[in-house]
Amino acid sequence: MRRPIIAGNWKMNMTPSQGAALIEELKPLVKDAKCDVVVCVPYVDITAAAKALAGSNIGLGAQNLHFEAKGAYTGEVSAEMLKELGVEYVIIGHSERRAYFAETDETVNKKVKAALAAGFTPIVCIGESLEQRESGQMEQVVSTQAKSAFDGLSAADAEKVVVAYEPIWAIGTGKTASDEQANEAIGIIRQVLRNLFGETADAIRIQYGGSMNAANAAGLMAQPQIDGGLIGGAALKAKDFSVIVAAASATVK
Ligand code: PGA
Repeated sequence: MRRPIIAGNWKMNMTPSQGAALIEELKPLVKDAKCDVVVCVPYVDITAAAKALAGSNIGLGAQNLHFEAKGAYTGEVSAEMLKELGVEYVIIGHSERRAYFAETDETVNKKVKAALAAGFTPIVCIGESLEQRESGQMEQVVSTQAKSAFDGLSAADAEKVVVAYEPIWAIGTGKTASDEQANEAIGIIRQVLRNLFGETADAIRIQYGGSMNAANAAGLMAQPQIDGGLIGGAALKAKDFSVIVAAASATVK
């Protein structure tokens, strides 16, 4: 019922020309996908990526935005700027931004609202650290983050948001959450959304992210709560990324 979505998060990788080349390689490999396919590229790659993506079934995403419309915010980029370049999705609150760039639940919520106002699909990242998981706080951490991210949203807006459950200990480490761990945490997040938005929660897509790759994608995608993936390292290789897209497509009847 929920259309799976596989999004690549290139992070700070790929120059504009390298990114365009990767997209050219990827296009034929995913052209028959039965799920949504997105690449979230560095700001400076967006123009080249948009050109390479034209006419394809791959959506274009950014990795951040500022919540203010304009003004004295040196180094920041607004929704309107991204909109003009053809951006459709934006990653918000990635754990790397929370850890290295001081993003908080509050700024994440403001960014979600700014992204929705611009007509983007926000991909909101939430997830616990290893320490939090091992001390039994996973449920509380993901619940708090989910509640804050969706604070003040209407059900109609909430339905447009994509959540990425990304346990921090699984990101870039090669340690994937087990299929069951990922499914359980995503089920907890969906219950939080159900408490907030009722049955709308059953339409909100929740991805898994953290060392998802060509080898483990099918197992993760087979879980009932998992609606796709946010892919870092494996999104930098067209073949690997396309295998993940195929695994998601295979779950669509
Ligand atoms: P990874 O990154 O697939 O390299 O673990 C995922 C992410 O951080 O979005």
